[in-house]
Amino acid sequence: MEQLQNKIEAYKLEAGTENVADAKALEDFRIKWLGTKGIVKEIMGEMKNVAPENKKQAGQLLNEFKVFIEQKYTDLKANAGEAGDQAGQTIDLSLPGDDLPIGSRHPVTLMRNRIVSIFQRLGFAVAEGPEIEDDWHNFGALNLPEHHPARDMQDTFYIQQNPAFLLRTHTSNVQIREMEKGVLPIRGIYPGRVYRNETVSARSHCFFHQVEGLYIDENVSFADLKQTLYFFVKEMYGKDVKVRFRPSYFPFTEPSAEMDVSCFICGGEGCSVCKKTGWVEILGCGMVHPNVLSNCGIDPNKYSGFAFGMGIERPAMLKYGINDIRLFSENDVRFLKQFTSAI
Ligand code: DAH
Repeated sequence: MEQLQNKIEAYKLEAGTENVADAKALEDFRIKWLGTKGIVKEIMGEMKNVAPENKKQAGQLLNEFKVFIEQKYTDLKANAGEAGDQAGQTIDLSLPGDDLPIGSRHPVTLMRNRIVSIFQRLGFAVAEGPEIEDDWHNFGALNLPEHHPARDMQDTFYIQQNPAFLLRTHTSNVQIREMEKGVLPIRGIYPGRVYRNETVSARSHCFFHQVEGLYIDENVSFADLKQTLYFFVKEMYGKDVKVRFRPSYFPFTEPSAEMDVSCFICGGEGCSVCKKTGWVEILGCGMVHPNVLSNCGIDPNKYSGFAFGMGIERPAMLKYGINDIRLFSENDVRFLKQFTSAI
């Protein structure tokens, strides 16, 4: 562990002194540090040699290092741009520009913004986390140790050269990253893309989007969870929609529930969308498990909280009458331009 720390420090010093004079040198910097055989990749590979009890700390260190190098690259890029300008290699601003067609917002973005803005009005702050994640933040810290059967439901894609890193299966990793910061109370809403090793079909895809919510403070109860989600449902689906909670199981919450809303297509009568049940499942939720709080250095005897997670594609499909999830990622403008209306 100490060896790894020293190595990272030495690399940071080295990267800190690098400078580039032109685009070629900038590209050399990128290849050396961020390329597929670059130093960042190489050092990430050391994760597998780290003892299990140090994995969490090592994961953080490696992540910070990556961010550091990426920032350095961004800075160098900005400087190289200026240097280019000074050398007289600027574009001729007097030339007429190309006509850029104005696009429209993606339906997933529209739905995400709508969900997020409801929680923002309740004082939830937006944050994001990495899509390429370590095992600890995606599983371990969420009370899903290695070989836990619940991992079966969330098979994902691993990085071949370094299986310690994977594509996150849910946005719940952001809960961990926000709690680790140690600033309490927390009231956060975390949208993002997630991945699963699933066969692509009209109803499921190997990547999709979720929004995660987290509320941690003293004396937070299940009643707070319910009221918050009731408010969300009314804002999102209207005042007449009914809500029900079904007991469920997630390793990172206890108790856990799934929340259904009465089918807003048939009004609860029963149709193909709600599979004749009159209810549509919207999200998973629960009280944050004490083990999860402890894993993030939060005292479960003092603090409690609730969390929830919901998909974005499904509500968007229901809202816009989209019958194939693959349409979202095919980049067909004929499909995409239909969703210009603000929702
Ligand atoms: N992460 C879960 C999933 O992807 C959803 C979820 C359930 C998130 C319960 C939560 C929660 O925060 O409390 O299936």
